[in-house]
Amino acid sequence: MSVIISPSILSADFANLARDIKRVEEAGAQWIHVDVMDGHFVPNITIGAPVVRSLRAVTDLVLDVHLMIEDPLKYVPDFLAAGSDIITFHVEVGDTDYILKTIATIKKGGINRRDSRGAVRAGLSIKPKTAPEKLLPYIKELDLVLVMTVEPGFGGQSFMSDCAQKIPEIVEMAGSAPLVIQVDGGIDAQTGKICRDLGANSLVAGNYIYKNSDIKQAVSSLIKP
Ligand code: DX5
Ligand code: ZN
Repeated sequence: MSVIISPSILSADFANLARDIKRVEEAGAQWIHVDVMDGHFVPNITIGAPVVRSLRAVTDLVLDVHLMIEDPLKYVPDFLAAGSDIITFHVEVGDTDYILKTIATIKKGGINRRDSRGAVRAGLSIKPKTAPEKLLPYIKELDLVLVMTVEPGFGGQSFMSDCAQKIPEIVEMAGSAPLVIQVDGGIDAQTGKICRDLGANSLVAGNYIYKNSDIKQAVSSLIKP
């Protein structure tokens, strides 16, 4: 099965984002992973919808937005309007009603989209200490599940192999539905292969790609380990 590579621009040069996106595009990446942090859900602050809007203007790659924020429902309209293609948020942020409403808002916003990029996909993420069963009430509504293999908040942390063991259970939960199963945190050629062998079909990588002297080789090694 082919794998979708989503380089995390958290490890790119924020003064040269357009250049750094071009570089991974030329290396064969299909998506761009945008880490949004609010200093509440995670102990770090990054970027918001205005940056997504600026990225939309310089790339046709899929903008894969990972919201590590409290009350994502409040901000989903901004991220839809900015041109996100995928909006993933965390299951830990609210109760079942809140999560279902947020998923529905993402998908409905996508249908009403004015540009020609098609539907916006909805993703749900689980932190390292969250059991995969927490995804069960939502699995049929989701386009993507994001398994965190580090505590969210920072790039450059070490891969937590225990977390990757959740992947087969999610594969089983998805059944025949075309679910993207993405992993994020400490991914390199070796840990990426572990995740792919367990059933992941999308890999996020920040440091491994952007801190590598050969970006092309780094992306290739994730596609064909
Ligand atoms: C962490 C972010 C990740 C991070 C990955 O909270 O969600 O996307 O940028 O960075 P690496 O690949 O360096 O672990
Ligand atoms: Zn991320």
